[in-house]
Amino acid sequence: MNTANFNLPKDVAKILVDPIAQTDLERLHAAYTWMRANNAFGRATIDGFDPFWVVTKHADVSAISRDNNLFHNGDYSLTCRPKAAINHIIATTGCPHIVKGLVHSDGDEHKNLRALTQAWFMPNSLLKLDGRIRTFATSIVDKLQQGNGNVVDFAKDIALYYPLHVIMDILGVPPEDEPRMLMLTQELFASEDPELKRARQGVSASPSDMGKALMAVVADFNDYFERVIADRRTNPRNDVATLLANAVVNGKPLSNMQRIAYFLIIATAGHDTTSSSSAIAMWALSRFPELLPRLKADPSLIPQFVDEALRFASPVRHFMRTATADTEIRGRTIRKGDWLMLCYGSANRDEEVFENPFHFNIDRKPNRHLAFGIGGHVCLGQHLAKLEMRILFEELIPRLQSVEPAGEMDLVASCFIAGPKHLPVRCIVH
Ligand code: HEM
Repeated sequence: MNTANFNLPKDVAKILVDPIAQTDLERLHAAYTWMRANNAFGRATIDGFDPFWVVTKHADVSAISRDNNLFHNGDYSLTCRPKAAINHIIATTGCPHIVKGLVHSDGDEHKNLRALTQAWFMPNSLLKLDGRIRTFATSIVDKLQQGNGNVVDFAKDIALYYPLHVIMDILGVPPEDEPRMLMLTQELFASEDPELKRARQGVSASPSDMGKALMAVVADFNDYFERVIADRRTNPRNDVATLLANAVVNGKPLSNMQRIAYFLIIATAGHDTTSSSSAIAMWALSRFPELLPRLKADPSLIPQFVDEALRFASPVRHFMRTATADTEIRGRTIRKGDWLMLCYGSANRDEEVFENPFHFNIDRKPNRHLAFGIGGHVCLGQHLAKLEMRILFEELIPRLQSVEPAGEMDLVASCFIAGPKHLPVRCIVH
């Protein structure tokens, strides 16, 4: 079969690997919309990158995510990086991942690792956190109140710290170390953003330097969590850190690398994403004035508001999959070893699933968004993220008298995560 028939136009494909272009949401969504209509399962061939299939439809992202035998997370890079960066990682670690953990594992290894913490992150188990999270949320609303009438950067000065505080509390990291964790996460996730990446410390932006910078960030995480693990082994507590420090799979303790990787994914996946979605929820309140009075009058709508903010934000832009055998989808022959990009942001605007998808509509019921993925690797922290957002807005909305935009939202330059870096608003909070 001639795959060239399905090649995407170069200018469309390039947007998918251009972090700066992706800060222009109109341009990005124009590209997604064009692909959904004209080449919904196209092939991107871009200089410096391995070729990959671009999965833009809700149905295809769902089907591929659910078929964890045919499409693996761990066989090749799970995020779309330049070939030189991946080669550097392989040369350094012996595998295509900086650290191979839960999200990069497949089959029984994945099931066993996931089972270690799955119950801890289920809604019933999280009920115990309600009071603590509410206290953090109240202090965040108090902080917002201090800025009454002035321009406040809701993304940078408010939303960023709340989920960070919750996840660090769960991992047993003391508040004084939170700024360090925040910096490491931003360097790891937003490694392409000029304002946030390690390059600002003197490393140039070539792909292999990007690989080296990422490895340095992981080494910092490693040093930090080694100390947390040692502490929990001697002083066990009722937290995830203690659970992981003493975890056993098939009668054997986790390897050092498996344990660090677990800490790393929970520490990093758990806050940027949730703060981005909270900031998008606030953006919606400031842009659509009819929302605030509706939510004040009926707070039972807050969970729907949260879900729609998650759909709109789609804070993870993509994860990659690698085919383990030849297969056929939408008339395309996918070969064993082919790399596929699951575009959550596109699936969440799919007109076949969401009526008027560019409209922020809290009445979608059910809201079948894929912001958390779906299938075997569906987000472990989805209930925690929703709980944090629900509690934040349950505390904020009754006290929020008004909110209006005070400038343009500025997005993080990244092909992997989507979210506001700056969101200037002017609020009055009681
Ligand atoms: C709005 C917030 C969040 C979003 C949008 C989000 C998104 C995602 C997505 C799309 C995946 C799927 C990965 C795949 O299919 O390969 C995922 C997995 C994961 N997320 Fe989240 N996440 C969020 C919050 C959290 C939180 C709070 C935690 C904290 C525990 C967390 C921990 C994880 C872990 C550990 C995985 C890997 C699960 C596995 O491979 O079995 N996430 N997340």
